[in-house]
Amino acid sequence: MSEQTGHVDTVMVEQRIFPPSQSFASRASIKSLSEYQQLYDAAAADLEGYWAAEARQHLHWFEPFQKTLQWDEPFAQWFVGGKTNASYNCLDAQIAAGRGDQVAILWEGEPGDTRTLTYRDLHCEVCKFANVLKSLGVQPGDVVSIYMPMTPELPVAMLACARIGAVHSVIFAGFSAEAVADRNNDAKAKIQLTSDGLYRRGKVLPLKDTIDEALAKSSTVEKCVVLKRAGNAVQMKNGRDIWWHEAMAQASTDCPATPLDSETPLFILYTSGSTGKPKGIRHTTAGYNLYAKRTFQMVFDHQDDDIFWCTADCGWITGHSYVVYGPLSAGAKILMYEGAPNWPEEDRFWALIEKYRVTILYTAPTAIRAFIKWGDHHVDKHDLTSLRLLGSVGEGINPEAWMWYYNKIGGGRCPIVDTWWQTETGGIMMSPLPGAIATKPGSCTKPLPGVRPRIVDEKGQDVPLGRGGMLCIDHPWPGMLRGIWGDDARYKEQYWTKIPGMYLTGDNARCDTDGYFWIMGRIDDVINVSGHRLSTIEVESALVSHPSVAEAAAVGKPDEIRGQVLSVFVTLRSGQPSDELRTALKMHVRKEIGALAQPDDIHFTSALPKTRSGKIMRRLLRDIASGKEQVGDTTTLEDYTVLAKLRSDDES
Ligand code: PRX
Repeated sequence: MSEQTGHVDTVMVEQRIFPPSQSFASRASIKSLSEYQQLYDAAAADLEGYWAAEARQHLHWFEPFQKTLQWDEPFAQWFVGGKTNASYNCLDAQIAAGRGDQVAILWEGEPGDTRTLTYRDLHCEVCKFANVLKSLGVQPGDVVSIYMPMTPELPVAMLACARIGAVHSVIFAGFSAEAVADRNNDAKAKIQLTSDGLYRRGKVLPLKDTIDEALAKSSTVEKCVVLKRAGNAVQMKNGRDIWWHEAMAQASTDCPATPLDSETPLFILYTSGSTGKPKGIRHTTAGYNLYAKRTFQMVFDHQDDDIFWCTADCGWITGHSYVVYGPLSAGAKILMYEGAPNWPEEDRFWALIEKYRVTILYTAPTAIRAFIKWGDHHVDKHDLTSLRLLGSVGEGINPEAWMWYYNKIGGGRCPIVDTWWQTETGGIMMSPLPGAIATKPGSCTKPLPGVRPRIVDEKGQDVPLGRGGMLCIDHPWPGMLRGIWGDDARYKEQYWTKIPGMYLTGDNARCDTDGYFWIMGRIDDVINVSGHRLSTIEVESALVSHPSVAEAAAVGKPDEIRGQVLSVFVTLRSGQPSDELRTALKMHVRKEIGALAQPDDIHFTSALPKTRSGKIMRRLLRDIASGKEQVGDTTTLEDYTVLAKLRSDDES
């Protein structure tokens, strides 16, 4: 019956709760639960009024907006009639506020080379590169495809596009030529930006070679600007390819930001759809910029003396919102790092935190689980006392990984903001405000002011507290996607059809009696055992709480009697695969969350299949668990050898 209602059963109980310390709360901009609640309730009572006031206060307007929201479901326009510019908000507005000589970006390359850019330096680079783009014929609305390493030139390129009303499409520099060409063709990109190569684990990856292959299949791309980064030999195609430094040498530093309509497209960012065809998520200028800035300020409780490090690549939404647009429009000092976390050693992140006195670290559960696996001795070598706040994003964080992050990295002193959001939402939707909301390991706690989440069944009815259901958002918000590039029908179908009147996130969640939200995984990943619908994260968290387990992925496998049975894939932190351990893990899950969730099979493996942004690909594991010879679409898989390893690990 629960299959039809969309309910999800919950089997996990987490009792631990961590209130913010007095010293953290007293310094925070939102200092107590009652202060949060007042703010939240006032915003909820008048969402448009709330966002209008925020927009007036926190963005620069060349011309004021006339209407806060024009909502023709499912198409939203925010701050209609206003003119602003995201590059202006990130740069000129900061200089005007006296931050010209303040550090904007502290950068370190993988080989250890360093650069520091003040807001004035960044402004200068961005103006010059905007002029380069103009000289190449880029007009407002043209799409610029960016396939670059995490050097300062990547934000420079993004902000240069924003400055002149061009639309950037950043493609993570680990994607294949085929993937780049698909995205370029879908977006009709006019210009390509790349570099000769990038450093990754001590090696040089030849980006330009990949781009040459991609451009052979990208018929709309006219020019390609190439940054010299790694010094590897490249072929420059006459008439098409230009060196970045040569173009910049002649460019003027004078390029006033163009006043742009609020709804001017700012960027496209491709996410992998379930069908395999990537979706170009479209974000626009004013609403997105406001949302990135305000969520950054609130969730990270940003203060003037903070050094903020978001470890995401700009190829993902986290890099867009919390490396570039959020922090820079809030005048923050950010750290940017080019390379791998385990180069030259597995302590690189901790060395960087110590060296730059990072105060806020924002990273992903996949990284945290890797750190746990690599061992505490890497952490122990470094002084991490500069940290005051930790963040997590991208997947659910298993409570035991949360505890490790809290104790080992945060020294039991730093609140953790577990931030739930999506490429589509533009910015964080649910998260603790760290001075105000006590945290519970594994919960993203409460919605931010101006956001109204609902948990509903198939009919769109709210499910009772404590029950799992589909997570929806019931009112537009400024950071929301405005559509899928070139595919309104898919946009409507995917997000707005199943539950009329609400944005369907595609995640399941439950809300506990304290009003805390717990994300339960993707709707498509629910496991149905004898009519009980189990969430992936609860089973996985039970496994990860065993001292031998580093990572776990749970999937359903067809079973004639019970519908599905649980099949789990486990990587070990210590110990060797054995039948004894298999039995011990089964008993452990049974003890932690009950007999119903006891796995039927346990596969030990040296690695789990992940997307390039680090998410476990349960879809592929489902195919393997059910014995399919051919697994589904693998184009987003990070490491193709993992599939072969999974099969051979399984046979052993
Ligand atoms: O399933 C949720 C998971 O990641 C999805 C969004 O992925 P993407 O668009 O790639 O954006 C990632 C960066 C925002 C969500 O639908 N997810 C993200 N954050 C969390 C999470 N699941 C649980 N807890 C989170 N904090």
